[in-house]
Amino acid sequence: MTVSIRALPELLINQIAAGEVVERPASIVKELIENALDAGARRIDIELEEGGARLIRIRDDGSGIAAQELPLAVSRHATSKIASLDDLEAVATLGFRGEALPSIAAVSRFLLVSRRHDDEHGAALRVDGGNVGEVMPKAQSAGTMVEVRDLFYNVPARRKFLKVERTELAHIEEWLRSLALSRMDIELRVSHNGKPIRRYHAGGGDTMARLSETLGEEFVRSALRVDQSAAGLRVQGWIAQPHYSRTGADQQYLYVNGRAVRDRSVAHAVKMAYQDVLFHGRQPAYVLFLELDPHRVDVNVHPAKHEVRFRDARLIHDFVFRTLHEALAQIRAGLELDIETSSQPAVAPVVPSQSTMPWQASAQSPLGLRVREAPSAYAALYSTSVKQDAGHDSANTAVPVRSSEAMDHDGEIPPLGYAIAQLHGIYVLAETADGLVVVDMHAAHERIGYEKLKTAHDTLGLRSQPLLVPLRVAVAEREADVAEAEAQTLTELGFEVTRSGPQSLNVRSVPALLAQADPEALLRDVLVDLCEHGQSRRVMTARDELLATMACHGAVRAHRKLSIPEMNALLRDMEATERSGQCNHGRPTWTRFTLAEIDRWFLRGR
Ligand SMILES: Nc1ncnc2c1ncn2[C@@H]1O[C@H](COP(=O)(O)OP(=O)(O)OP(=O)(O)O)[C@@H](O)[C@H]1O
Ligand SMILES: [Mg+2]
Repeated sequence: MTVSIRALPELLINQIAAGEVVERPASIVKELIENALDAGARRIDIELEEGGARLIRIRDDGSGIAAQELPLAVSRHATSKIASLDDLEAVATLGFRGEALPSIAAVSRFLLVSRRHDDEHGAALRVDGGNVGEVMPKAQSAGTMVEVRDLFYNVPARRKFLKVERTELAHIEEWLRSLALSRMDIELRVSHNGKPIRRYHAGGGDTMARLSETLGEEFVRSALRVDQSAAGLRVQGWIAQPHYSRTGADQQYLYVNGRAVRDRSVAHAVKMAYQDVLFHGRQPAYVLFLELDPHRVDVNVHPAKHEVRFRDARLIHDFVFRTLHEALAQIRAGLELDIETSSQPAVAPVVPSQSTMPWQASAQSPLGLRVREAPSAYAALYSTSVKQDAGHDSANTAVPVRSSEAMDHDGEIPPLGYAIAQLHGIYVLAETADGLVVVDMHAAHERIGYEKLKTAHDTLGLRSQPLLVPLRVAVAEREADVAEAEAQTLTELGFEVTRSGPQSLNVRSVPALLAQADPEALLRDVLVDLCEHGQSRRVMTARDELLATMACHGAVRAHRKLSIPEMNALLRDMEATERSGQCNHGRPTWTRFTLAEIDRWFLRGR
């Protein structure tokens, strides 16, 4: 039997396209809001019924569409946003494919009403299951209204896949959160089944208010502002401090030139940056905006535009990793980090980490303290020559341990204050300018030891150790190619690898510190990373794990009695050590109770 080739009818073409663009009601909300934003809307109203399956009605106050162009707006491959390949390669609008409206109209009962600001009245166009009606005059305030009823009524197979109302609504709300974060200047009002359910205020660009509305106050309290530019790239936004971690990836928002996307490579870079400070199995929370020349990113990868392709993915991975890694390193115990309170370009807390430089507590620090880097008092922790009990009785006396170098002489109290006691051999209690600090002594000491070991090993580099008998490792051809192409990278990591066949490698040396581990498994993981992300931190990670174990063994055990000077030395070291807010396993090392909080325990001052 021969089957002749024929062109598909327009409606079917649109329904096929709808398969990619319209997955569920949330995809429609996304497309319609993106259109409103592209039209310069400031305020968007969203009415939903039955999780959007029965009705989605979106009104905006944007530029509107001319009456005679309404039929074009709902026809395929018609767009006002690009006109040439050059435009496509430098897209600055959210839409550009000219297929969202026709796709949506092909699988619903669709109504488009619009009026440009200078037009006397508006016009409406109805499309029912793909049948385009006549343009009719209609009263309408300036802007556009799109109504989508009975989604998939004419595609029963798709309708079956719609989930219960609650689930579809949750998808819409999640998308709205993502949007509310990306466009803090836009007001959004949402109602469901006739009841207002959410309102995002434009709020004069009050970033913190919007962050709090979308992600909650806890996120805001633990958010760190990052803002870094280099090599034509800028990454800015907020990352949560490690103690605010999540069980899932539900608060991870990435925007590339304002577009919400998922990107494995950037997600991986973030994960790597948090690796050292996050409790096992926990996920970081972040809102990050990556900005770069549109020519350096291809947005036309997927009809729903959830993904992009970077021309220099490796550079971006590295840039994001470094920015976040450095920002997280700044979380030293006691340090108040700067969270900006306006949408002004940030004063990034990413301060240079030269250990000789005095560093400054944030101007917004409730303590308002000036802090100096304490030179290592680590050795003094076990030293018997330390004068006992110096500075014991008053928080205002000079610092106990090696006071001449260790502290400011301005009489200012350091962020973690002065030790007053040890509790049950586990915790150090310290009096601070505004209350009480409790430190988990073992956890804190472990981190300090770990950071010192890392620094010491960083200066040594990753030395390699030759194997007595070279190791033959069978790999996939792609991995063997990568091993050959990245021989230099592997050498820097301590591996000496040559290719011995299409799918085999010869390993002559391995990183010295890790020779006792399983170097073959490590090499395989490194190759997978190099294939996927163009770089690998596996060796560093494995090394760090080893150093962390060493630090754990070296750290003061619980129930060891510390003298006050030893405790003070520990506090000063915590203030000076990167990442000292978390122990090596991501648990917090300290906590603070302000006097006001303590007063509340006793109902004082009421
Ligand atoms: N809310 C709106 N306000 C003003 N113009 C609109 C609005 N919605 C759609 N349009 C116009 O209709 C055209 C078609 O919209 P449609 O969403 O189908 O395509 P697009 O946005 O150009 O590309 P994409 O398919 O990538 O979304 C747009 O190019 C725009 O000119
Ligand atoms: Mg569009």
